[in-house]
Amino acid sequence: MNQPARLVVLVSGAGTNLQALVDACADPAYGARIVAVGADRDGIEGLARAERAGIPTFVRQVSDFETREGWDAAITTVVERFEPDLVVSAGFMKLLSGDFLERFLTLNTHPALCPAFPGMHGPRDALEHGVKVTGATLFVVDAGVDTGPIVAQVPVPVEEDDDVDSLHERIKIAERAMLVEQVGRIARDGITVEGRRVRIGPASR
Ligand code: GRF
Repeated sequence: MNQPARLVVLVSGAGTNLQALVDACADPAYGARIVAVGADRDGIEGLARAERAGIPTFVRQVSDFETREGWDAAITTVVERFEPDLVVSAGFMKLLSGDFLERFLTLNTHPALCPAFPGMHGPRDALEHGVKVTGATLFVVDAGVDTGPIVAQVPVPVEEDDDVDSLHERIKIAERAMLVEQVGRIARDGITVEGRRVRIGPASR
């Protein structure tokens, strides 16, 4: 059997997406294992979840570096040490440098249906716009904000009495399921990105 794909997961907060991946990786048939969890701040539940699961962690905080370029280089160096096949940015609230993205295939989830409502407030912006359906998007990170090639999307209906929290919580349930399913498929079968088109499966000859 092939070696499980090596994942590095980056978090900034609660880490429920991370937890879903940790739980999935407990099954050897899933085809992936998390070799490290990184964060841009200390004292977050995402790191505690990793520690409870016995996964190595690292923190690189922007304010500890004189320049943003210094932080960019530091996060690249530490991730490189873990030799990931795939980096998953799961609620990680920092943009990653071009150099980082060239080295590591990096996926991110966004709690809206891209290209709608990019940025920090996807659920709020969808609610304010009055859409009836929103959702979550898994994409390959590029230089923009939530603009990269789309791997998968899942719709979530907006309920009449939703507020931002209730909507985001329902999106997150769908988002976690999508993340687990697609990362597993990628780990087992591979991924090809050609321009904006993403295909999961063995490379065609
Ligand atoms: C997710 O909805 C993610 O898309 C957004 O922030 C949330 C992170 O949740 N960027 P968690 O830390 O995985 O619980």
